[in-house]
Amino acid sequence: MLSIILCVDDEPINLSLLRNILQDDYKLVFARNGEEALAAALKHNPDLILLDVQMPDISGFEVAQQLKANLKTTSIPIVFVTSLFDDDHEKMGFDVGGIDYIIKPISPSVVRARVKTHLTLIHASQLEASYRDAIYMLGVAGHYNDTNTGAHIWRMAAYAHLLAQAVGWNEKRAKLLEMAAPLHDTGKIGIPDTILQKATELDAEEWETMKQHSQIGYDILNTSNVPLFQLAAEIALNHHERWDGSGYPNGLAGENIPESARIVAIADVFDALSTSRPYKEPWPLERILVTLEELAGNHLEERLVTVFIKILPQILEIKAKWDSRSLLDGFKS
Ligand code: C2E
Ligand code: SIN
Ligand code: SIN
Ligand code: FE
Repeated sequence: MLSIILCVDDEPINLSLLRNILQDDYKLVFARNGEEALAAALKHNPDLILLDVQMPDISGFEVAQQLKANLKTTSIPIVFVTSLFDDDHEKMGFDVGGIDYIIKPISPSVVRARVKTHLTLIHASQLEASYRDAIYMLGVAGHYNDTNTGAHIWRMAAYAHLLAQAVGWNEKRAKLLEMAAPLHDTGKIGIPDTILQKATELDAEEWETMKQHSQIGYDILNTSNVPLFQLAAEIALNHHERWDGSGYPNGLAGENIPESARIVAIADVFDALSTSRPYKEPWPLERILVTLEELAGNHLEERLVTVFIKILPQILEIKAKWDSRSLLDGFKS
């Protein structure tokens, strides 16, 4: 699909110059003053605006301010095209939300190169945003039929991020873990609501069904080769493995369990114990801490539990923050 570029200039000759330079590669829309520019931006939702600064009615800087102030146009990138070239104007241009400027008289190769660069960058950041949103939608989907799950997935992702940092993961990996962790229970989408929402203990057959959520989540997430989803698949498969080998689905033990999943397991158990679930009430903190100590070395890795308890004050801060939000809020704020 052709990108749409809105070209704004009060001089017809400048617009026809831009037309000649760009018309073979893009869909162009033109405006000869600020009013027209604002209307055209709303009507055509362009991918990029080339905006003249000196115009008789409203200056390009003011047009930019108005575009930024309107939710419908605020995210459209603006490149100023100007003969005004000094530090003050440059600063002003960036202050009102411009991402770049091109100096007049314009050179065709400069215009082509800048436009192409910016559209590539914009495309990449839109892809990244789609990607983030897809992760959160999958996470929400995995939990949609859990009643009162609240902000479970977002909260436990933040716990996992903090714990990973505390055991020395670099920020890039810790962030990737935070993005992947919300997907740990994606496989619950394949489990009947009657089981997910049961108010009492599961019987043996229901439990066998429930345990399949690890493999189902893996099968869904493993369809992507992207590192983030590969990590999410690894976590989904292994988050109920136990340090002593008594977990599921594969009975892995110790360091055969990926560290990502060992970290998420602690975040998941802490969250399950500290909040209400269809089958349980939240526990008081003292009882949770006693249980974590008991689980250290058998269910959970002792080293990680020790660090988790050390960072408990920060964990509780996160809990307080997320407790007041709902599932659909996600990470959007
Ligand atoms: P969940 O509710 O998100 O719980 C996640 C994990 O937290 C559990 O994994 C378990 O390791 C830990 N956990 C939760 N409650 C307790 C507890 O009272 N004591 C201890 N020591 N650990 C606890 P698990 O056991 O593999 O369960 C996976 C999922 O199966 C649970 O996710 C929940 O959706 C479901 N489930 C487990 N037990 C029951 C139950 O008795 N009734 C119902 N309706 N669902 C259950
Ligand atoms: C619930 O809290 O509704 C069920 C457990 C979970 O979401 O993992
Ligand atoms: C539970 O008690 O509901 C979960 C099983 C366990 O962690 O022992
Ligand atoms: Fe799970």
